Amino acid sequence: MRSLEDFAVQKLGELDRAGLHRVLTETTRLDGIYAVRNGRKLLSFCCNDYLNLTHYPAIKAAAIAAVTRYGVGSGASRLVTGNHPLFAELENRLARFKGTAAASVFGSGYLANAGIIPALIGPDDLVLIDELAHACLWAGARLARAQVLPFRHADVAHAKMLLAEHRARHPRALIATDGIFSMDGDLAPLPDLAALAQRYDAWLMTDDAHGLGVVGDGGRGSAFAWADRQDIPLQMGTLSKAIGAYGGYLCASAAVIDLLRNRARTFVYSTGLPPAIAAAAIAALDLIERDPAYAALPLAKAKFFTRLTGLPEARSPIVPVIYGDAEAALHRSRFLEEEGFLVTAIRPPTVPVGTARLRFTFTAGHPDDEIERLARIMRDPKLDLEFEP
Ligand SMILES: Cc1ncc(COP(=O)(O)O)c(C=O)c1O
Repeated sequence: MRSLEDFAVQKLGELDRAGLHRVLTETTRLDGIYAVRNGRKLLSFCCNDYLNLTHYPAIKAAAIAAVTRYGVGSGASRLVTGNHPLFAELENRLARFKGTAAASVFGSGYLANAGIIPALIGPDDLVLIDELAHACLWAGARLARAQVLPFRHADVAHAKMLLAEHRARHPRALIATDGIFSMDGDLAPLPDLAALAQRYDAWLMTDDAHGLGVVGDGGRGSAFAWADRQDIPLQMGTLSKAIGAYGGYLCASAAVIDLLRNRARTFVYSTGLPPAIAAAAIAALDLIERDPAYAALPLAKAKFFTRLTGLPEARSPIVPVIYGDAEAALHRSRFLEEEGFLVTAIRPPTVPVGTARLRFTFTAGHPDDEIERLARIMRDPKLDLEFEP
């Protein structure tokens, strides 16, 4: 197939010329914070394992015990092969933790968003979405074939203007936003968005992939990070970050969850998660509920770093430093790697063109003296001088 090869080579050439050709670099994670790359041990600041639970002994033991007892894969869709009791237990635990009537687990966070929105919203409907929302919220919105209108990042006045102009023409409307923005680390203005949703009869949906386990009242997520808990009818998230396992979820009312189990195509037509993953996630929730002080550590470490560097105070464990140009971000990433830190450069299309950055993620186990050393290097003018565009 010559045309296929030509197409691939031409596209790769375009990516190369723009400094956007990504490659997979072999990296072995040793524990929750250190990794080996090119034969060197590096302290990683680019992993969403905020509580270092991927390597937590009691959680690994729960997963191993479940594999031994129930096997590896789950065999088929949960509606076909039957619902493993560990799924019911995990969903009850998630609903209780988030304060909703029910919850449903999906194969991943991406699959959750790709399934939830088209199950609730159709071609006649309206989706308002924060322009910086995660790619999979966008994917869900597009799959719904609705009218999709982006509003400027965290700009409630803009969202209001769009609703005032368009809402009346659509039977149903959804407002979709990250709770914590994955590449910027800021919080969505949830109290104002919730009030707007109420006023225009729009359904508010948060993607709290980066909120669960690390922000708001013992790690209950972004809805709980305000003076009053926010009433958000669709709270989606993932088990792959602070929970340290894998899979996505939605917390919502019993009727909404029941509907999604019947209509969300990524739930109905996809194999259930491995039972061991459910066992690990339950053990992780146990730990987070037992030890809220531990769940507060990643944000405290991020704040320590922003204080030392003079960056705006962290609102979550994610701290971006924006350089604009992809090559500039890559250069700094290489520089930090030489100093023993793994901080991947984030480039378009993951972030908008002209906003390439280093994205630091802080975890419970990052040693304070290493954060101090990292901050010293980030403040060093040599880091800028050594980059010649
Ligand atoms: C905000 C956000 N939503 C959803 C996802 C997707 O979750 P998962 O990795 O479980 O597919 C991610 C992670 O990459 C994310 O950052």
